[in-house]
Amino acid sequence: MISYNEKERIFHIYNKKISYYMHVNFEGAVETLYFGKFLPSLYNIDAIRKGDIDNNSSQYFDMNLEREFTHPDIYKEGIARNEISSHGGRDKRGAPIIISQKNGAFETDFRYFSFEIVEGLPVYSDIPYVRENGVKATTLRICYKERRRAVLVYENITILEDKDIVIKNFEIVNKSNEIVPITRAFSMQLDLPDNQYKIHHFPGRWAYEREHRVNDLVEGVQEVFSNKGRSSHEENPFVFLSENEATNTYGRVIGFNLVYSGNFMFRTYTDMLMGCHILYGIGDEDFRWMLNPKETFITPQAVIAYSEEGIDKMSQEFHSLIKEHIVPPEIDKIKKPLLFNSWEGCTFTFNTESMLSYVDDSTKIGSELFVLDDGWFGKRDDDTSGLGDWVLNENKINLQAVIDRCHKHGMKFGIWFEPEMVNPDSDLYRDYPQYALGDRKLPLTPHRHQFLLDFANQEVVDNIFHQMELILDKYPIDYIKWDNNRVTNEHFSNALDAEHQGEVYHRLMLGYYNLISRLRKKYPNIFFEGCASGGGRFDLGTLFYCPQIWASDETDPICRMFIQYNTSIGYPLSTIGSHVSNSKMTCYKTKAILALFGTYGLEMNPNVLTESEIEELCEIGDVYRKYHQEVIGNGTLYHLKSPQETNAMCMQSVSKDKSKSIVIYMNKFKEQQQYRFIKLKGLDEEKLYRNSLDNEVFSGAYYQEVGLNLSRKVLYEFDCELIILEEVGGEI
Ligand code: GLA
Repeated sequence: MISYNEKERIFHIYNKKISYYMHVNFEGAVETLYFGKFLPSLYNIDAIRKGDIDNNSSQYFDMNLEREFTHPDIYKEGIARNEISSHGGRDKRGAPIIISQKNGAFETDFRYFSFEIVEGLPVYSDIPYVRENGVKATTLRICYKERRRAVLVYENITILEDKDIVIKNFEIVNKSNEIVPITRAFSMQLDLPDNQYKIHHFPGRWAYEREHRVNDLVEGVQEVFSNKGRSSHEENPFVFLSENEATNTYGRVIGFNLVYSGNFMFRTYTDMLMGCHILYGIGDEDFRWMLNPKETFITPQAVIAYSEEGIDKMSQEFHSLIKEHIVPPEIDKIKKPLLFNSWEGCTFTFNTESMLSYVDDSTKIGSELFVLDDGWFGKRDDDTSGLGDWVLNENKINLQAVIDRCHKHGMKFGIWFEPEMVNPDSDLYRDYPQYALGDRKLPLTPHRHQFLLDFANQEVVDNIFHQMELILDKYPIDYIKWDNNRVTNEHFSNALDAEHQGEVYHRLMLGYYNLISRLRKKYPNIFFEGCASGGGRFDLGTLFYCPQIWASDETDPICRMFIQYNTSIGYPLSTIGSHVSNSKMTCYKTKAILALFGTYGLEMNPNVLTESEIEELCEIGDVYRKYHQEVIGNGTLYHLKSPQETNAMCMQSVSKDKSKSIVIYMNKFKEQQQYRFIKLKGLDEEKLYRNSLDNEVFSGAYYQEVGLNLSRKVLYEFDCELIILEEVGGEI
């Protein structure tokens, strides 16, 4: 809901849980008054706005009258909390948008012009966005006009009726007849009146994605960013601030994410009043967008979740937003087939016969979707060649025979592509060397022996689309694993002239989104999974097209325990691609239980499994089929023990109707007998549940207050328990 108090010039964006107030002052700046728990009224807004220090910030010099004036109201420019800070003037905290003036001046100053309140959420054609999906949403569109150039900015702020979330972005419109260079186009600004927060972010590297790091919000600037051309292993666009004393279940927490897959910048600045000035959007390193007359630049949507009840509540808000408004709804709703992937079992070394034996043996462990990974196309027996040539290598594999065998077993079939890349040793590169990204007069930096294709060039995107079409039209393919195995270093497009090179990073993303959305449109039944050397592009942009993303190339369950737990703070388990592998750490049952707290899949050489290993996998496969979608895929997740902070990892998922719950408890180092009561969450206090640990029946209240009793037992290294609770009838 959104209301406007015309007399006081106050917007109130609210639902039953949260309020966001802003005020249009007489200078035309939009001041942020309050963001937090629902408040029916702010009463006296000047009490919020006033502050005595720095009277200089009230003065301005009128160039026409050649005289100094004082702002008529108590507006303190450069100090007041704003929706859009100006640039090149008094405000030094950082502007979300910077354009160049015609004479080259940097000054950018957007002032209020008009507003409208519209039902629904914006829908975009070139970039991913938060889908409305039948839920009541209301958007405030504030229009600002740049003081000197004919450029408008629309600030969209959407509130969903049923979520503690607001969605913000800017649309920049060139109303002039000249090209306007934009040198920064962030998606949002949020000014908070204090900095007593910790900042949580998720840095990492290949095969060690998303560690959970917590820093104090220091004075000055702090940045969480990627300049790798993808959201990256090194940081993730999911970031949150927690009040200093907040815990998983207590305190104020504000979470942020961006519906985007490329360079990003989350920047906090503690100003001289100890407020926190937050900017978030597309990274501005080497960014310069030449906005043509009459065209609009749309910034990706930033999503802000607010919780008064600790970190888990924020996580749950993000989880339901992602499941209900980001991932393709038609795919998330179906029960996803249990997936078997060939990669870790045989990498590039296979032939038709060996692949058929994989298909046959994968059925013994419950596979419902067989995925042939890298190595089936072009000349591709290792990673030095073949990318860019999406033509079946008939000498290596009879694809139709493999698909027929899958169908004979009642299985679906999927395949691997890495559409945005080219090996120098490929026909595509030999024919079109200019398709590779990078200035060909300078040395290029291959990574995994490959270059990025220039997806800023539509001709290149079309070429790959047509190559993929030929495969997808010929073979019945149900699933595509879409990989992306290198970062962007050189970012020079041979198809763009000098003044447009600042657009390349973003145009690469537009090319990625263009290709995947065209394919999704033409092949609506294909289920796409994202991947980028594991979890190097785990973000809301990719999730818009792919309902799940391979979380990491690390499948050792001990390392995975951290990766999956931390990833699930920002993303629902149903999106976290997790497979049981041949890793020698722990037994298959433990690996499978862990994979269950993700998408659950299998990735190994199925020919070498022993009878007892097959049994272990079948046991957990049965749990997957019986409970996964209802309790884990669509359930509510609680983080009970962090492996970073304790000697165990424990998560619990509860079905929406609270009739079932599944708990994973994974020990780290050997621990002697001790009390271990795991206090559960989210159950119905009045209901009775039988638990699979000791087969006893207790009430929801008992499990929540006394806890599941894992005491008096020695837990050995990486011992893992899977406990299923099911409601039983009867009275307490
Ligand atoms: C990446 C992926 C792996 C696998 C290989 C194939 O590393 O993360 O899962 O698909 O590429 O080359």
